[in-house]
Amino acid sequence: MASVSTILLAITYEQEWAAAKSVLTNEYGYRVLVANTEKKALKLAEDANIDLVICESSLEGESALHVLQQCRVICPNAMRILVKESNGGNKKNREAAERAAIYQFIRKPIDAEQVGMVVKRALEAAELSRRHRLISRELKLDDDSPVFANRPGGKVSADCSNFEKLVYVSESMAELCNIAKQAARTDLPILIQGETGTGKELMARAIHFNSNRTDSPLIVQNCGGISDEMLHSELFGHVRGAFPGAISDRLGLFRAADGGTVFLDEISEISPAFQVSLLRLVQEGEVKPLGSDRVYHCDVRIICASNRRLSEMVAKGDYRQDLYFRLKGFELVVPPLRERREDIAVLAEFFTQKYTELTNVNLLGISNDVLDRLQLHPFPGNVRELENEIQRMVALASDGEYLTSRHMSEEFSAIIPDTSFKASYANLPLDGATLKEKVESLEKHLVTEALRRLRWNQSKVAKELGLSRVGLANKIKRYQLANTG
Ligand SMILES: Nc1ncnc2c1ncn2[C@@H]1O[C@H](COP(=O)(O)OP(=O)(O)OP(=O)(O)O)[C@@H](O)[C@H]1O
Ligand SMILES: [Mg+2]
Repeated sequence: MASVSTILLAITYEQEWAAAKSVLTNEYGYRVLVANTEKKALKLAEDANIDLVICESSLEGESALHVLQQCRVICPNAMRILVKESNGGNKKNREAAERAAIYQFIRKPIDAEQVGMVVKRALEAAELSRRHRLISRELKLDDDSPVFANRPGGKVSADCSNFEKLVYVSESMAELCNIAKQAARTDLPILIQGETGTGKELMARAIHFNSNRTDSPLIVQNCGGISDEMLHSELFGHVRGAFPGAISDRLGLFRAADGGTVFLDEISEISPAFQVSLLRLVQEGEVKPLGSDRVYHCDVRIICASNRRLSEMVAKGDYRQDLYFRLKGFELVVPPLRERREDIAVLAEFFTQKYTELTNVNLLGISNDVLDRLQLHPFPGNVRELENEIQRMVALASDGEYLTSRHMSEEFSAIIPDTSFKASYANLPLDGATLKEKVESLEKHLVTEALRRLRWNQSKVAKELGLSRVGLANKIKRYQLANTG
């Protein structure tokens, strides 16, 4: 879990909250994000990992209670606090507050010390209820049917990590997120590559919310399937009359995002002419609107994503090398899900929780059989495919049930769980083999079995087998176990 709690202040006048914000940031060390409209507040709740929301009843937009109700859906684990005018409060409000499951009211005028104390207590209460949920689940798992016993994945949510909305336990993702966190603090361009559905956009958003540009916008532009002229006008702007239909000046996203971040998705798809314009922006910070002679300066952080490997396109002469080098101030490659199978169980659990919160179904958990089948699937659509499958399963399940293979789509329910390990143990090629061969065969079997059972969590496997991490890595290499999936 993230060590620093994040507080979302959805408030009208930032000056009124200056003292409280300073207490929360400086005395308690929380990360504070501020939104002064309903739209901005909900956007922040979508993108950042929020632990607590304070919302003022005077907030611009539909109503504060609406914001808090939406937060209950978007970030269900975040505590919700409503700030009321000194004389507010009637029965209708009370009912709406009930629906938003508000933890506390605060009344105006704002007392910074009180805000700090209430937030601290609310976060403590949230942590207690999180632990309570985990413990009750473990107790439930223990005394339930043997199908769910001894499941290493049974304790998954206790020790999984997150980088904003990215959830993982694998070492490869942990390393990647550490680099991403360091990269976030710089202004260098970042290039995120990886197969479809691996979480590149989620990573880009997480980086923005861990940079010092959080108070400025994050603007997303997909560069695929859009004409050159349109893309140029979207990003660099245009002047009136620049092309037929350009009836007024347009600022362009780069200038609109000044001080913030622009996320360019499918960056492999841009034309050679557009590559030149982009190079100028990345090198000099210069933007020239279509049809204009003027050059403007803007300060934006560029994050790009691509499913195709730009290095291969450069090698084939399909992409400018100078632009590629500029874009990859940091190059992050998100591994496909099949190469970090230990993430499958935690993600399955995470999505089950997410969709049960959204649909209000009360499920008991995921059966071992389902987890085994998920482990054997190659996931060409990566995390998105897993999320879709779980969402579908939750929709088909009823209150008080476990998710079982009966809820799975045909593609997954057709997978035959691998029960051949015990059989293969009896079939080890021991006849006529030398002692060395027999020992090696057994060793390979035991390491394979432990890796499979502990979902390729190499730290846990090394610990269980009494090996060092390097020792385990050597055995994996020697027996070529990484390729067996
Ligand atoms: N580590 C993760 N934890 C939680 N959710 C994830 C994770 N990775 C991906 N997702 C979810 O999977 C879906 C796909 O993620 P995202 O859109 O970021 O992928 P992408 O790499 O940008 O895909 P594409 O290349 O197709 O655009 C989203 O719903 C996202 O929330
Ligand atoms: Mg994407």
